[in-house]
Order: sequence, then C-alpha cells, then structure tokens
Amino acid sequence: MEYLTFALAKGRLSEKTLELFEKIGICFDDMKEKSRKLIFTNEEYKIKIFLSKSSDVPTYVESGTADIGIVGKDTILEENRNLYELLDLKLGKCKMIVAGKEEALKILDNNDLRVATKYPNIAKDYFFKQKHQTVEIIKLNGSVELAPIVGLSDVIVDIVETGNTLIANGLMPLADICPLSARVVANRVSMKTEHKRIMDIIDKLREVI
Ligand code: PRP
Repeated sequence: MEYLTFALAKGRLSEKTLELFEKIGICFDDMKEKSRKLIFTNEEYKIKIFLSKSSDVPTYVESGTADIGIVGKDTILEENRNLYELLDLKLGKCKMIVAGKEEALKILDNNDLRVATKYPNIAKDYFFKQKHQTVEIIKLNGSVELAPIVGLSDVIVDIVETGNTLIANGLMPLADICPLSARVVANRVSMKTEHKRIMDIIDKLREVI
C-alpha cells in the first residue's frame, strides 16, 4: 500500500489538526518533539504528513505531491487552485473583511478607493467582480493595519478573528466579505485512485468535529 500524503499548514492549525487525528486514532508521536523536521509518518495507516507554509499547501495538493491538504479557506480562495474541497473542519474560524477608519465608510463605494491587503485576489474578486468597483489594490505582506493609519491606503482587506488588532489601531470593520475556517482539500486524481481511504478518514473526522 502506498502512503496517503497530507500537506498541513505549519503552525497553530497543524497542531489543532493533529489533535483531531489523535481523536480518530492516527498518531504521529515524533511530531511532539518540537524539532525542525518537516515530514512524519504513521506506519500503521500508511499515512505521511508534511508541514508546509500555508500558502504552499494548495500547490502541493494540486500537483499531486500531496493527496490531501489542510489549510485555511483564505488561502484556498487566494491561491485559486484546481482542488476538491471535502470538509470544513470548523477550526480557526474568522472572517475576511474590509476595514478602515470610520471616515472611510463615506468613500467605500468610490472607484479610486485604495485597498491594502495580503490577499490581492480575494480583494479583486470582491471589489471588481462582486461590487463592480474599480479600486487600486496595494499588495502588502503583513501588519496590513498600518496602511490606513500611515496613509498608504484608504481601507484594508484582511482577516479579523477577535477584532483586537483593529481596535488597538483605531480601525473598524466596514464590510464583511466571507466567513473563513480550516478546510480539507484533495487532489482530483487522488479522489479517484484513493477514494475509499480518503473518504474513510473524512467520515471519521466528520464524526469528531
Ligand atoms: C492576522 C490578521 C490580523 C490579525 C487579526 O495577522 O492579518 O492582522 O491576525 O487577528 P485579531 O482580529 O484576533 O486581532 P497575523 O497575526 O497573521 O500577522 P500579520 O499581520 O503578519 O499578517
């Protein structure tokens, strides 16, 4: 039997996912050692897990180097790969929103609105396709809340979880884009060749979430 391979987004999400795997009896004891190792195996179930940067999970799954991926819906939307979305793990629940200073509410529908974001594709999809608004998208790599404060942009498109970062920086949510959470995605070919093994695991996961 070949290994069924999972790509997991490194960090908090992978830790929560491993807890779910333990609940369904699939353990990776060597993962708890906090080493810099990136690949782990469970010989009993012939499962291999590797830890990648979140935004690379869809790349591994689309290419078939991983059969399954576990990653946030934000990354799935932003990367827009050809994947099969199988299950909402309901972990890491948060929202994609438009946020800014209160006064930005007045210019939210303007065509020259400047939007800073780590998620240019999600922002384009929302403003260009859904709102039919031609805005300027400014790609940033983090600490996006800075942009409207220092005058780089009028608003941001970003993830909000507790809302603490917005509040601490004098910003507020101005519009909701979509709810987010961790999803299980699969390679389209693996869904045919490994259908039973994949669906057995999905069914078990569904029972414990
Ligand atoms: C994320 C997001 C917000 C913050 C929201 O940033 O981009 O900045 O968390 O969380 P909150 O609503 O609970 O305050 P992250 O911590 O990933 O860092 P980044 O700024 O480098 O993107």
